[in-house]
Amino acid sequence: MSADNKPVARVLVVLPESAPTKELVAFLEHQGFEVMWVREGQIGYEIIDSEAPDALIADLRDSRIDGLRLLQVARQRNSEICAILVGGPAEIELGVEAMRMGAYDFQVQPLNLAKIRVVLDRGISHQRLVGEVSNLQRRLDERYRMGGIARRSSRWQRIYSQIEQVAKSKASVLITGETGTGKGEVAKAIHQQSRRRENPFVEINCGALPEGIVESELFGHEKGAFTGAATARKGRFDLADQGTLFLDEVGDLPLATQVKLLRGIQSGEFERVGGSQTRKVDVRIIAATNRNLEEMVEQGTYRADLFYRLKVVAIEVPPLRECREDIPMLVDVFTHQFSRENGVQLTGVAPEALDVMMAYEWPGNVRELKNCIEGMVVMGPRQGSLKVGDIPRHIRKKAPEVSGLLFRPGMSLEEMEKVAIEETLKVVNHDRRQAARLLGIGLSTLYRKEKQYGLRPAD
Ligand SMILES: Nc1ncnc2c1ncn2[C@@H]1O[C@H](COP(=O)(O)OP(=O)(O)OP(=O)(O)O)[C@@H](O)[C@H]1O
Ligand SMILES: [Mg+2]
Repeated sequence: MSADNKPVARVLVVLPESAPTKELVAFLEHQGFEVMWVREGQIGYEIIDSEAPDALIADLRDSRIDGLRLLQVARQRNSEICAILVGGPAEIELGVEAMRMGAYDFQVQPLNLAKIRVVLDRGISHQRLVGEVSNLQRRLDERYRMGGIARRSSRWQRIYSQIEQVAKSKASVLITGETGTGKGEVAKAIHQQSRRRENPFVEINCGALPEGIVESELFGHEKGAFTGAATARKGRFDLADQGTLFLDEVGDLPLATQVKLLRGIQSGEFERVGGSQTRKVDVRIIAATNRNLEEMVEQGTYRADLFYRLKVVAIEVPPLRECREDIPMLVDVFTHQFSRENGVQLTGVAPEALDVMMAYEWPGNVRELKNCIEGMVVMGPRQGSLKVGDIPRHIRKKAPEVSGLLFRPGMSLEEMEKVAIEETLKVVNHDRRQAARLLGIGLSTLYRKEKQYGLRPAD
């Protein structure tokens, strides 16, 4: 650390041995930089990983690995590195090329040491600022994350608090919501936040199994219990002992199995199929369904006692179209995830493309969005951002008019204001506080204008 508490900046100098080079190195050391001087590009290339310099001063004309190649390698390691390339008056064109490739500066020899100092100072503090901003951004994003869930809408912030609260207890939780909304992620988050987190989280999809199999999957079976049962097998209740059992699609359970499940949940006791010995486990139950169990109870297709037993605490997961404010964050998370997985360097999604995605209804919710982004990344460009043209045609077509298209030349400003307010309110699901912030007006102005344009009943 230097006297003003900033870490000492490390400069890698790759210049041939000469009097001016020695002068430069001595000058930088005297100015308080930590200098590593190597005489050849090849050596610079070999040590760049281990030394992780903040700045690089290299010769454009190095015979083995020239400055441009070294610059490329250095920027792959540290995209904000302060790279200064050095050359003679004949190399100005190469110098321009270097700047285009991301060099911070190009200096013509003989070097002006004071200038070098200014460039280094500026480049290194820029680099540190970028680092701090992305750190802050990361910390801000963390606030909106819980396990595998990334959501910033106020509805999801409330679900986060419900998860935290319910995780402290052993109460059964029933998670309801449309397909693909993230019910499975909520179940995992509850387990992760609970004291059982070190113990197993066991899932069973009750909908995907034929009637005869569900019971043996849940409770296990003894050897010879049925044709094909050559050995005894543990069921999910056994496997989840001391942990959490997640019953997905619990609305699809046949009536006969519902009784047995109820007993298992109430007492933790059950028998394996074909067995008579009663086993006892300590299991926390979380269930999820996209069906309306209340209606099923009324129609007699679902046992009321099981329903109330599962629904000690209820968490309702909203469809994505009701919390569109989450779309930009989810798009960002998925774009980066699939970029990494596919080895491409996408920076994000163009604003117009994001507009289309925010306007679409997403009947398949987060799962549909995730699959859509994966397809776009696989089929799209290898770098830069995803554009409207990369979005599958059926989504582009079905997205209701994107705001821009609602404005016609010659439209009155008042009318435009009305449309802007109306459309913004729709996008944020009528969360006025958020709409006001997006529109850049105060909450009371929003109320007044809504009334003025007849967007809400006058009170
Ligand atoms: N907030 C989120 N952040 C990141 N990924 C998410 C989020 N919500 C859901 N996902 C991902 O979206 C997909 C669908 O989520 P999940 O399987 O939890 O939905 P579901 O409600 O259980 O759907 P179904 O009823 O069809 O089982 C999963 O791949 C999940 O990892
Ligand atoms: Mg699921």
